[in-house]
Amino acid sequence: MDLTGRVAVITGGAGYLGRTMANTLAEAGANIVIVDINKEKIDSFCQELEKEWQIRTLGIAVDLENKDERRLIAEKVVAHFGSLDILINNAAFVGTSNLTGWGVPFEQQETETWRRALEVNLTALFDLTQSCAPYLKKSGHGSIINVASIYGIVGPDPRLYEGLPMFNPAAYAASKGGVVQFTKWCSTVLAPDIRVNAITPGGIFRNQAPAFLERYESRTPLRRMAHEDDFIGATVFLASDLSKYITGQNIVVDGGFSVW
Ligand SMILES: NC(=O)c1ccc[n+]([C@@H]2O[C@H](COP(=O)([O-])OP(=O)(O)OC[C@H]3O[C@@H](n4cnc5c(N)ncnc54)[C@H](O)[C@@H]3O)[C@@H](O)[C@H]2O)c1
Repeated sequence: MDLTGRVAVITGGAGYLGRTMANTLAEAGANIVIVDINKEKIDSFCQELEKEWQIRTLGIAVDLENKDERRLIAEKVVAHFGSLDILINNAAFVGTSNLTGWGVPFEQQETETWRRALEVNLTALFDLTQSCAPYLKKSGHGSIINVASIYGIVGPDPRLYEGLPMFNPAAYAASKGGVVQFTKWCSTVLAPDIRVNAITPGGIFRNQAPAFLERYESRTPLRRMAHEDDFIGATVFLASDLSKYITGQNIVVDGGFSVW
C-alpha cells in the first residue's frame, strides 16, 4: 500500500513498538513525525529512518504529561509538513516503567502514579485527537490508531505472576480500557471524515523470566508471546486506505490470549 506524501505522527515513536510502526509506514512512503520524551533517541532514530527509506522526518521532544506541550504538536507538524494524515497514539507508561507505586502489589500502588498514568495513557489522547482533528479532516484520508492492551479488555491472570517480582498496575488496565472506549466514541463523532480504530497488543517478548514465559505461552492459543513485527500488518492496514470502510474497531493482536 502506497502512503507516499502522507504524514504520520507516532507518539512513543522512539520506543520498541513505535519504532516498528514508524519503519512500517516509512517503508510504505509516509513522512514520519516521531513524538517522544528523549531528544537524542528521537534524533538518531529520525536519521535512521531518512537514510533507510528516503522519506522526510520531524522529531518532537515533548513530555506528554504536560498539557500545554502536547497541545502544540499538531501545529508544529503542520507548520513543517503542511498536512497531517495519520495519528498513532502509542506512547504510554507501560508495565515495566520505573515509577513509584506502579509495578508493585495493589496495596502499594499510589494515587499520584494512577493520575500520572491516566494523564499520559489516556488524557493525552484526548488532547492530541482534538488538536489534530481539523488537519486529519482536511487530509481526506485521516486515520487515527490508538494502541490499547489486552489488559484494557480482560482482567490480569494472577497465576502468570505467582512468585515473580512482576505486578500488573491497576491504572494501566483502567487507562487502556479507556483507550478502547475513547476509540469507539471518536469513531462516530469524527465520522465520516476521520477513521478511528485501535490495536490491542498482547504481551510482547522482552526476555521475561522463564517461569512467566512458560505460563504465558501455555495459556496463549498460538503458544508464544508477540514480537514487534506481529503488528506490522494491523498498522499498515489501519493507517491506509486498505481499511477505508472500517472505523470504531479494535484489532486484537494477541495470539488468541483473550479468547478464553
Ligand atoms: N510491551 C508490551 O507487552 C505491550 C503489551 C500491550 C500493549 N502495549 C502497548 O504498546 C505501546 C508501546 O509500548 P512498548 O512496549 O513499545 O513500550 P516502550 O516503553 O518501548 O514505548 C513507549 C514509549 O512511550 C514514550 N513515553 C512514555 N511516557 C512518555 C511521556 N510522558 N512523554 C513522551 N513520551 C513518553 C517512551 O519514552 C517510549 O519511547 C504502549 O501503548 C503499550 O501500552 C505494550
